[in-house]
Amino acid sequence: MTESSPFAPPVTVAWADHAPPPRGGLHVWRIALDAPDHADLRVLSAGETARADRLADPARRRRFIALRVAARHILARYVEAEPHAIEFGAGHRGKPHVTRPPTPWAFNLSDSGALALLALDDRGPVGVDLEGLRAVARWDRIARRTFDEPAHRALAAAPADARDELFLAHWTAHEARQKATGEGLHGVRADAAQWQVLHFRPDPGWIAALAFAAGVEPRVSWLDYRHVPPAAP
Ligand SMILES: CC(C)(COP(=O)(O)OP(=O)(O)OC[C@H]1O[C@@H](n2cnc3c(N)ncnc32)[C@H](O)[C@@H]1OP(=O)(O)O)[C@@H](O)C(=O)NCCC(=O)NCCS
Repeated sequence: MTESSPFAPPVTVAWADHAPPPRGGLHVWRIALDAPDHADLRVLSAGETARADRLADPARRRRFIALRVAARHILARYVEAEPHAIEFGAGHRGKPHVTRPPTPWAFNLSDSGALALLALDDRGPVGVDLEGLRAVARWDRIARRTFDEPAHRALAAAPADARDELFLAHWTAHEARQKATGEGLHGVRADAAQWQVLHFRPDPGWIAALAFAAGVEPRVSWLDYRHVPPAAP
């Protein structure tokens, strides 16, 4: 932690290459969307298939299908149902949750390019946000609009070569909290004091943040869905 950053340095994740049987707590899965696979379209709902069909770009379509199939296979381990039998509902701003079978597991998804993350917790809501490390052109405008005054000041004072990553740390923390509450980017702003944020590097080239309620034990199981690392964005 430095004076200009309120965040601990991001954790570099060592992904487990095999999945133990799910226990309770926080679990984060890395999903490499371009890994060769046998995307099993039969597990998708009619709504998911229709959404895939609306994606004109073949790469986006393929990645969307890979993510939906992976998410169903992963969730099936936790909720004890066949992947195709899982039913989803959505909160008032669209946050998905499992409605059938009934389960204590909350989950949240984020994807960026060839990589996606699925976070789960059986103790309460969770939010995750993933961003490719990149130059952020309009950081000043976005920071003024979105972050508090100290964060904006710290960004303005940061050396140019550190600013993009600091901006993305603030951004992923903000978005992960907004996704944990389900309010998304346009809803009621989360009270930061009610949430813990853990920053991590899922792979070189990406930064991510996980938000979960203050007071929840922050130990995370890091799990790899496929063992092929994605190409950096
Ligand atoms: C949800 C949101 C933060 C996603 O941002 P993003 O950077 O584009 O995408 P990410 O990859 O990080 O996350 C997308 C996933 O978050 C989940 N999600 C969708 N809405 C969500 C919400 N309100 N809260 C938490 N998670 C949400 C979904 O699983 C979604 O995946 P999908 O698009 O494949 O269905 C942003 O789109 C948003 O704020 N949406 C809210 C829209 C809204 O307010 N609608 C009001 C309707 S009344």
